[in-house]
Amino acid sequence: IWFTGLSGSGKSTIANLLERRLVLSGRHTYLLDGDNVRHGLNRDLGFTDADRVENIRRVTEVSKLMVDAGLIVLVSFISPFRAERAMARDTLGEGEFIEVFVDTPLEEAERRDPKGLYRKAREGRLKHFTGIDSPYEPPEAPEIHIRTLDQTPEEAVELVIATLRRRGKLTSSYPAAS
Ligand code: ADX
Repeated sequence: IWFTGLSGSGKSTIANLLERRLVLSGRHTYLLDGDNVRHGLNRDLGFTDADRVENIRRVTEVSKLMVDAGLIVLVSFISPFRAERAMARDTLGEGEFIEVFVDTPLEEAERRDPKGLYRKAREGRLKHFTGIDSPYEPPEAPEIHIRTLDQTPEEAVELVIATLRRRGKLTSSYPAAS
């Protein structure tokens, strides 16, 4: 389940909530995001275009391994480029990939500015910031399009769960644990 959107758009909020829901219903999940990946596996990477491409390539490969192991993998990265998201889709396989566009207008993400990074970028203290001096290419045909100005994180989670159900990903193959 691939979340893409601007910094501060709400990707991680929705991904965390979804993960909690899935775990409570007995699914095995893993949440990959900048916080756990950029401090470890990808700590050699910054925010140039080339580094972002490599960031997403590695995340794609790791998520493929985890999907092969049977986990529901939630991926929460800006992943600004269409080409890399298309590569992720190809690598995972069409039936195993759900692209969730967390659509928050730049003005709103900047107004929220949860980490104070937009401000820093506007002051020229942070280079290559997505939406300011680095591009974001919105998805053209995401499986799910969340408009955070109109939809709550809970509603977003319901949409993803409905898609998982439609795809038969939540039908239990084991008896419920007692
Ligand atoms: S991605 O573009 O390579 O997919 P990723 O999701 O891993 O980005 O990391 C984005 C997070 O890193 C942001 O939410 C923000 O907290 C932090 N960050 C630090 N510098 C930048 C920058 N120049 N552009 C975007 N995000 C940055």
